[in-house]
Formats: sequence, C-alpha cells, structure tokens
Amino acid sequence: MATEDRDACPHDEGEQPSVGAGNFEISDRAEQIIQRHGEALKDGRLPAKVYNDEEIHQAELRRIFGQNWVFIGHETEIPEPGDYSQRYIGKDPFIFVRGEDDEIRVLFDSCTHHGSKLCRAEQGNSSHFRCPYHGWTFKNTGDLAGIPLKHQAFDNLDPSEWGMSAAPRVENYKGMVFASLAEDGPSLEEYLGDFKWYLDIHLDIAKGGMEVIGEPHRWRADSDWKSGSDNFSADSYHTGVAHRSVFEVGFGSEEISGTAGQETQRHVTHIDSGSTSLRLLKPEDEIYFGYPKEYVDTSKLSDAQADVAAACGAATATVFPNLSFIHLAATNDPDKDLDGFLSLRQWQPAGPGEMEAWSWVLAPAAASDEYKQRAYDVALGTFSPSGNFEQDDFAVWDGIADAAGSVYAEQSNFEMNYQMGLEQASSASIDEDFQGPGVAWDTNLEEGTCRTFHGNWHKAMSGEDVGMSYPEDHL
Ligand code: FES
Ligand code: FE
Repeated sequence: MATEDRDACPHDEGEQPSVGAGNFEISDRAEQIIQRHGEALKDGRLPAKVYNDEEIHQAELRRIFGQNWVFIGHETEIPEPGDYSQRYIGKDPFIFVRGEDDEIRVLFDSCTHHGSKLCRAEQGNSSHFRCPYHGWTFKNTGDLAGIPLKHQAFDNLDPSEWGMSAAPRVENYKGMVFASLAEDGPSLEEYLGDFKWYLDIHLDIAKGGMEVIGEPHRWRADSDWKSGSDNFSADSYHTGVAHRSVFEVGFGSEEISGTAGQETQRHVTHIDSGSTSLRLLKPEDEIYFGYPKEYVDTSKLSDAQADVAAACGAATATVFPNLSFIHLAATNDPDKDLDGFLSLRQWQPAGPGEMEAWSWVLAPAAASDEYKQRAYDVALGTFSPSGNFEQDDFAVWDGIADAAGSVYAEQSNFEMNYQMGLEQASSASIDEDFQGPGVAWDTNLEEGTCRTFHGNWHKAMSGEDVGMSYPEDHL
C-alpha cells in the first residue's frame, strides 16, 4: 500500500491528533493485541479481538476514558439551580449538577466518609445530597454541610477538607458540557479542533440554539461501545442494506439518509478528534435537516457552513471516544412529511463487548411545543431503543461482539476489512472544492472516517500515531 504520510495531505496541517494517551500498565498479551492493531490498521485491517476482551476493556477505561474529554450532558438538561442528573465517565459515577450558585459541576458520586454512592435518583432537583449510610450531607455545590453528631464524633474535623470530589476539568462548548479525568492536557476547544466547524452547524443552525427534549434514553446491549463510534463516524455503506426495511415502509428517504455509492455524500475525515458524513443535496433545496424555515437561523454560520446546512438532510459524526451525532430529516409516519431532529448519542463501555447506549433528542429551542413533541416522536420512531433504524444497527453490532469474544477469533487472529478507500480499493476521490476542514471524499465508498476513529483509539491506547493518510493517487 502507499506510504501513509499525514504531512503530505493537502487538507491537513500536519498537526498530530489531540487525543491523549494514558500509561496504565497492562500485560504483555494486551500490549501485543494493541501493537497488532496498529500494524494491521495501516493496511486497513482490524483485529476483531479489540471489540471484546477483558484486558483491553480495562485498559480502555484508564487509557481512553481516564485521559480524554468525555461528554457529560447538555446545559439545558439542568436549567435550574439544584437540577442534577447521574452521569458516567467510562464506568465512573458522577453527578452533573447546577449548584445554588448557578455553576455547573461534575461531582464524583461518592461520599467522602466511607464512600457510599450519594445520588440514588437518576435525576431531580435538590439543594443537598444526603448520604444513605451515616447521613453526611453535602450542598449541591459539593461542600460538606452536615455531619451527624459532629461535635461528639469529629470535633476537630474541618468540613472544608471533606467536600465532594469533582472531575479535574469541566468545560462547556455552546451548551455541551464535557469533563476530563486528566489534570492536564489540551483544552476542550483544542481537543475538538477543526471539528468545531461541523459542530457549530449542528448547534447554531436554529434560532435560540438547540435544547434537549426530555430525558436521555438509556439501554444495555451486548455490543461493544466502539461499534457505535465506528458506525456513526461514519459508515453509510450499511444504510441501504441494514436499514432496507425502514425505507420500504416509508419511514425515511433513501436519497436523504444515503445508500452505498451515493454521490451526494461527503465523508470527511481527519478532523482532529472527529470525523463525519454529510448527505448533501443542492444548497438551493434548503432542507436544513428537515427543520421548518421559521426555526432556521444561519446568521452565526459562515457562508460555507450555511451552504452545507442548507443542503444537508442527514449527517452523522463521532467525537472520540464515544460521543456521536445524527442530525436527520425523517418521519415516524409514512403519511407525514419529514421533520428534523438532532440526536446526541453516547456509547458507554459497560464491559468487554457490552455497552450502555444513551441518546438525547434535541430540537430548536425556539420551536413550538407542538414541533418539539413532533421532533421527539420522530426520534423515538427512528433512533431510540424502539427506533426502526436503531434496532437494525444493534442487531448487527451484537454479532460483532460475539465473534470478537470467540476463542477462534483469538487463536486465529481474526481480522476485519477496513480497506475501502485505500489505494485502488474504491472509486472515491477527494473533493478539492469542499469548503470545510478535514479531507472530504466525494462518495461514501470510503472508510477513512472509520479508520480515523480506530487510529485515534490506537493513539490513546499506545501513544503512537498510526499515521493514517491517503494513497498518493488521491493527493
Ligand atoms: Fe456516607 Fe458514611 S459513607 S456518611
Ligand atoms: Fe445505521
């Protein structure tokens, strides 16, 4: 295959991805799996083992989720002082809370006395968290406010030393709150890098911004978290096959959602911590992900961003490690027109080959209550645990985790093919006229988006850049 050379790419400034790597010690066996992963990925092959292995799972929690920015929630989920919701970084429990001082915090959900979990409700509003074990009580700012029998039992204890712990770093990008367990590292904006160009389209397209509707859906699956990140980063080669029945009953538009080989698609890869797929019609079609015109406002977007928004009926994306997006015009009723919604999805690692999926529905904040309900219903019918598209995806992802956890896959070093778009492997070519950052391909017959995700995984797990780039005949 052609030599991979990031610096040679005309759309890439040669900067290294901002994804951070941890140095948690792991066994020689696990190190070998990771090393083989890097070697294979350069040739567009992926060892299945990484999708279901206890040691890899434990290393991911520390080297990936313990080091990088992880999505916590959207600020519109906790609009009032005292609003809180349980959240996770990897498998670690945190409380996403707006304090009485209106500051948003991400507090470690463990009592500083003997460690019991403080928060027993998924979400709610409370001025304090009272420990169910011995009754220590903390303000929603994390400060220790009360200790039963303090003067008899802890006369010399200084409450200011025993407040709740918090995630070391918390940052907010246009309402999206992320936290990092790493004390140091790139800022959230540095981490998102050029991906912000695409994120801004999703977040700034509507008057008054976007707001979360209802609670996030949550469900467990026997699928690895990487299947979600990989798929949304973006595999639209599967759409016409795995989701065939959805199109046949009229719940989606193939033209908008995309099928293999469709030339209205742009796959954009190497965007710092992310990659994306955009299904672009003509800008004059002004589809804006299916939103009624009265809710659309492109005044915060550049002309190039506004053109993409106007032409885009569907977009998926992944920000490393486990936050994905789908912005889609769809319906839950073949007799109704397509309507738009944005879903944020998070693929939480729950065990080797197991995940807990989370999905938030967002709609324009300025939309009518009727439209917000409609957007929620459309999301429920398409991308939710009961959604037609969603169930199709999980039905196939479960099989990947099964195969990856098999003795055969381990003994034979079973590898999967991720070569589409490498060398002469597909007809996809770079769209030099595309205005956005990253490398844009002119069809979806290209898996650089997925290889970017797996390259970021390798960088986080090993500290080494695989150096995925493009064959010379595409430069
Ligand atoms: Fe919380 Fe004892 S563990 S009060
Ligand atoms: Fe799908």
